[in-house]
Amino acid sequence: MQINNFAKGFGVQPSKIRSHKPLISKYMLSKINPTQTNSWKALDEEFTNNDFDLRSLFKDNENRFNEFSVKRTNFLFDYSKNLMDSKVKNLLLNLAEECELKDAISKMFSGDKINETEGRAVLHTALRDFSDREIIVDGENIKPLIKSVLDHMKSFSESIISGAHKGFSGKEITDVVNIGIGGSDLGPVMVVSALKHFKTRLNVHFVSNVDGNHIAEVVKNLDPETTLFIIASKTFTTQETMTNANSAKDWFLKAGKKEDVAKHFVALSTNIEAVKNFGIAEENIFEFWDWVGGRYSLWSAIGLSIVLAVGYENFEQLLRGAYDTDQHFQTADFGENIPVLMGLIGIWYRNFYAATTHAILPYSQYLDRFPAYFQQGDMESNGKCVDRNGEFVEYETGPIIWGEPGTNGQHAFYQLIHQGTELIPADFIAYTKSPNKVSDHQDKLLANFFAQTEALAFGKTEEEVEAELKASGKSDEEIEFLLNYKVFQGNTPTNSILFNELTPFSLGQLIALYEHKIFVQGVIWNIFSFDQFGVELGKVLANKILPELENNETVSSHDSSTNGLINYYKANK
Ligand code: F6P
Repeated sequence: MQINNFAKGFGVQPSKIRSHKPLISKYMLSKINPTQTNSWKALDEEFTNNDFDLRSLFKDNENRFNEFSVKRTNFLFDYSKNLMDSKVKNLLLNLAEECELKDAISKMFSGDKINETEGRAVLHTALRDFSDREIIVDGENIKPLIKSVLDHMKSFSESIISGAHKGFSGKEITDVVNIGIGGSDLGPVMVVSALKHFKTRLNVHFVSNVDGNHIAEVVKNLDPETTLFIIASKTFTTQETMTNANSAKDWFLKAGKKEDVAKHFVALSTNIEAVKNFGIAEENIFEFWDWVGGRYSLWSAIGLSIVLAVGYENFEQLLRGAYDTDQHFQTADFGENIPVLMGLIGIWYRNFYAATTHAILPYSQYLDRFPAYFQQGDMESNGKCVDRNGEFVEYETGPIIWGEPGTNGQHAFYQLIHQGTELIPADFIAYTKSPNKVSDHQDKLLANFFAQTEALAFGKTEEEVEAELKASGKSDEEIEFLLNYKVFQGNTPTNSILFNELTPFSLGQLIALYEHKIFVQGVIWNIFSFDQFGVELGKVLANKILPELENNETVSSHDSSTNGLINYYKANK
């Protein structure tokens, strides 16, 4: 039976949404309610009539691994440990067809303005398009624009890394501080951490939080004579980033002069006027465009900190890896198309099994920030409750995304995945080879990966537990007491993504897989994945409250809780 808790959890009801006229044009995405499709109804029936059990699914089909996995040249995607048979898989593929996913993919790649609520194209894929084709936005081919910014990033990074660019006192730059938040921070943070092994001589740091302790702790050990600041902000209006940028400038001006700022500050933005007003020289601006979404922007000028951290060649490899996945996404049959399969599998759990969360569990310390990165990528994209018709959705959309690297997570939250009351589908990601050969660490790491996915899938039955307890010499009474606690239900679904090596290229492939998975789900859920109006209200209120914190008067303009909190803060700050 399909479980839908949606209406219960939310105060907003469909009747509260004003009637709305969707924009219709052949350049826009279809506006199909997925629950009204034949495949959805058939999936609902399959879900109701079956009790998928991984033990039986594997026992009944010796070829299951081959049928439910995709091999690409340098990695394997195994989705056989999912609660589905070929019938469900085919129905999910039909769902993608019925929701016109093919058409949506082609519209995104050709630059149609599928971000309808903001009137923009969605073209992060153009930033890594190594083909000769033109991509036209508002009558202009954007490929030369992209090339020119990439050339600028290349020459600038080379002059910094080689030491040709000198700071105001004639010294080489040793440290780079990227100041940005959200999409102007998380992607570079994640990639720079993932590619540590490819590091240049520069130390790259990140400041994002408006909490002054963040910037204070970062600059504490830096020398203004050898530090370069990158102010990364698509809008160049974000409160956190502008506050940190001004504090960085104040810190710098204690040592350098105003005319030295040009040697130590660069900006990455779409808002050139605001950058100039901040005092950054025009030649130090790396532009990008409104058709690059913040959370999809690491491929753009926002990647400058990555270029400085690992060198331009490696950045290009990252782009080439993503381009490889883009081609796979556009050309592979849906049955073999990894992002399509990832997206559909997620829908199966979210909408039919009512799974509220999805865990991303990289078995690689290098990918320590990967779950956090896709927390924004996924939740800011698909955390939506109004569909492309302007109607309140009556089905679940984006899940909560979370995770930590294995094996650490095993000693923290895996207990709940194994024996809690929630179904938590998870992606396990690992590399067969490790760049650091440290005794038998790699085998141990991978042994844990394989053991966890096996244990989650197949659990431990009553019979197995009983036999084990008997063998350990427990009495019948003890066995009866312990039995229920020691049984693992299993049947927890996982995808396994096993790459041969962590390289800039393979990282680009991996990131793009997840980007496209998010796209697939947004298309099928009939929502707009490329705006983020939900984060605006808090920003507006914070700006309203700020002046109230700057005087000694008692505040009474809010509800009693907010007034109470503000007044307590003011009395004790
Ligand atoms: O959190 C909302 C958001 O707009 C994100 O989408 C974006 O990545 C982030 O703020 C930073 O915005 P900007 O790059 O304009 O400073």
